[in-house]
Amino acid sequence: MDKLVVRKSGPLMGEVVISGAKNSVLKLMAASILANDVCVIENVPNLQDVRVMAEILVALGMKVEWTKRNELTITPAEELLTEPPYDLVQKMRASIVTMGPLLAKAGKARLAQPGGCAIGERKIDLHLKGFAALGVEIKQSHGCVEGIADKLVGSTIYLDFPSVGATENIMMAAVLAEGVTIIENPAKEPELTDLANFLNKLGANVKGAGTDTIRIKGVERLGGAVHSVLPDRIEAGTYMVAAAVAGGDVLVRNVMPNHLKAIVAKLQESGAEIEVFDEDVRVKSTGKLNSIDIKTLPFPGFPTDMQAQFMALISVAEGVGTITETIFENRFMHATEFSLMGADIKVEGHSAIVQGGSSLEGANVKATDLRAGAALVIAALVADGPTTIHNIYHIDRGYDLFEEKLKGLGVDITRVSGK
Ligand code: EPZ
Repeated sequence: MDKLVVRKSGPLMGEVVISGAKNSVLKLMAASILANDVCVIENVPNLQDVRVMAEILVALGMKVEWTKRNELTITPAEELLTEPPYDLVQKMRASIVTMGPLLAKAGKARLAQPGGCAIGERKIDLHLKGFAALGVEIKQSHGCVEGIADKLVGSTIYLDFPSVGATENIMMAAVLAEGVTIIENPAKEPELTDLANFLNKLGANVKGAGTDTIRIKGVERLGGAVHSVLPDRIEAGTYMVAAAVAGGDVLVRNVMPNHLKAIVAKLQESGAEIEVFDEDVRVKSTGKLNSIDIKTLPFPGFPTDMQAQFMALISVAEGVGTITETIFENRFMHATEFSLMGADIKVEGHSAIVQGGSSLEGANVKATDLRAGAALVIAALVADGPTTIHNIYHIDRGYDLFEEKLKGLGVDITRVSGK
């Protein structure tokens, strides 16, 4: 397995251009199952997860081609199959979002039941509750979840928790349902709004994405569309934190600053200087930062996907900071890895108390999930001696051109290939 070796890199300088959002493109690809004409998706990041989703669509009978470096052209299946293969579903939890579109388009779907993962239990009960409300009969047996419906009928669905995946799946199931579907207490993440915009371009009637109520009026048929994926706010946030921790002056380009408010606020509170432009943000930092407290929340609150990167920041900042994780039950696996580098972190239930001011040392550490991997790279930027990061397949799942972009800012990073 490949490893990354990162050495202390001094201030980061220059520009980094942000790619399309992983957590949007995967859903847009799933939504293309609903289309009856060709879909062209632009600004697609070239990620492992995108390649897996493409393989799933191909396995369902669709045609997926890279028509340019960052452009996918997706052609509908002549005969749509409804069972994404087990080995692909197991590779990526986001594959569950093919279920809504398959139910809407074909009236049935059967997938391997996604299990828990390193960051938590990751149940799908809210997805299934939503499908059932639309008239789908759900069966769970032999490790699979299966849905069948003669027709889907609109309904009002209240989500106990604003789950991103459940909101997206129900929204995609409802676009072809008879009548009106209302989703109360939906997720408001920007990637979900991007999905709603794409569905509307296909001919759907979705209103209210990004607000407290989503209203979907079913239509009979969806066509095709051309759509550009919105910028990845988590990728942007990762480079912003890297610049704040290592110090320097970095222009993070092609972002939507509205989606970065929580990250900007927390970086400013820690002492970094942030300038916000229309489509760019500039981070200037001396590398001397103050500790901050963080609580992860659904959007527009502080994103759980930035929690690990901020743990790296607090570890080297002045003072004590508390991180409270409210989205996932078990998203502190990276604390142990930071401790191997000399960080002082105590995890108590849903909180991590981070004693700042640690002098980090390079060590052998492993990425426990995608964001944890990126966070270890950030810690390595200020550690004495080389840090070797293992299990970087997690990073490859979600960061486009990661090493190239970091090298462009002056980071000393090398990939070591291995079996
Ligand atoms: C999406 O996951 C993202 N993944 C995650 O990004 C992100 O961390 C998460 O949203 C929260 O923002 C993709 O978009 C592919 P949820 P998702 O459903 O949809 C519980 C990354 O690093 N829950 O909002 O799976 C669940 O167990 C990844 O890019 C139920 O209890 O998130 C979890 O604790 C990691 N029942 C919480 O809700 C359900 O039916 C949030 O899950 C569904 C969810």
